[in-house]
Amino acid sequence: MFAPKFDNLWGTGQSTIDGILRATADLIAGKVFVVAGYGHCGRGVALRAKGLGARRVIICEVSPHRALTAALEGFDVLPMIEAAEVGDIFVTATGNRSVIRAEHMERMRSGVILCNTGHFNVEINIGDLEKLSVGKRELRPLVDEYTLKDGRKIYLLAQGRLVNLACAGHLFN
Ligand SMILES: NC(=O)c1ccc[n+]([C@@H]2O[C@H](COP(=O)([O-])OP(=O)(O)OC[C@H]3O[C@@H](n4cnc5c(N)ncnc54)[C@H](O)[C@@H]3O)[C@@H](O)[C@H]2O)c1
Repeated sequence: MFAPKFDNLWGTGQSTIDGILRATADLIAGKVFVVAGYGHCGRGVALRAKGLGARRVIICEVSPHRALTAALEGFDVLPMIEAAEVGDIFVTATGNRSVIRAEHMERMRSGVILCNTGHFNVEINIGDLEKLSVGKRELRPLVDEYTLKDGRKIYLLAQGRLVNLACAGHLFN
């Protein structure tokens, strides 16, 4: 299987980080970087975040086997409800719905960045984010700033669509 083991791991891993950097010009070094899903894509993203100097890379996984793999490969493993309280940058890479939802957003610190690299814009529950917010503005292209009722800010990249395709590019050859 060429695509998952190579393109998803190395290609999506790199281009997802590339998309975050192009959209935000943020610094990965020193950040707490949270990756939901430790499949081929999530593992690639986590490896690249670690390589760029993230202070801590946290994996959220529902599969015990994949969670154990992440732990043995040197990553912290936490449920999203706990990771939400400490993360700076969140990337979903699961193929699942509502991986980041209201109960997580309510615990996040002001200034966090949320993005998705799994298919379709359903991994981050944007409806929940809208309901929790009193304001929204486009800070820069493909970066939406949501202001929550208590004043905290949450930044959503690419409207929750695939951040690598929307904000960077992806070609593996
Ligand atoms: N952005 C891109 O260019 C690109 C490229 C290839 C694949 N994808 C997409 O990325 C997604 C992941 O692909 P993959 O090859 O890594 O798949 P995968 O099946 O190898 O990995 C997905 C992982 O997510 C975990 N997971 C599922 N629900 C979860 C949840 N609620 N919380 C935490 N973990 C959860 C699964 O246990 C699994 O380990 C898919 O939607 C795929 O279509 C995107």
